[in-house]
Amino acid sequence: MAHSCESLSEGNPLDAIETAHRIHADICDVLEAIADGLPDDVDCRLAINALDSLRFELPLHHIDEEEGLFPLLEKRAQPKDNIADVLNRLAKEHAVDESFAEELDDSLEVLSQGGKVDNPDMVGYMLRGFFENYRRHLHWENTLVLPLARKRLRKKDLRRLREILAANRSLHSWTRWHEDTAH
Ligand SMILES: [Fe+2]
Ligand SMILES: [Fe+2]
Repeated sequence: MAHSCESLSEGNPLDAIETAHRIHADICDVLEAIADGLPDDVDCRLAINALDSLRFELPLHHIDEEEGLFPLLEKRAQPKDNIADVLNRLAKEHAVDESFAEELDDSLEVLSQGGKVDNPDMVGYMLRGFFENYRRHLHWENTLVLPLARKRLRKKDLRRLREILAANRSLHSWTRWHEDTAH
């Protein structure tokens, strides 16, 4: 699965965020395939993909939005855009989704090693809850936030956003390297 850190050195960073959203839609499809395959027919490669995405890709993207896109957009939005409450709600959803993802971590770890989970009905229910919420989240961001950002953000905002995305990725690479070498 691709990661959302491609082509950040140039170009419009909103395109990179849009690409990340396409990747996240794929993650939701992967989680749905896992839920459908429970209890006995889960491809462990899907679980490996899902684990990596939930542990690294999604939290990184949430930081991009909370530290970059959302505050920059809030600053440039006009009162008639009514976007502040939406951005606030989306940021709160990030925290909820990350804690859901943490709860799924052990089960996905078992599945990624070809094992079987003890409570497939509950895991299936949790997976469905996660990807259904996340698809709604993506829908709001793709239909409301990104189009408004394309309209309101100025060149210097886009430059700043590009810098934030790049800085998050260099910090993320270091953190990930540190975690990998600690195991
Ligand atoms: Fe997003
Ligand atoms: Fe988001």
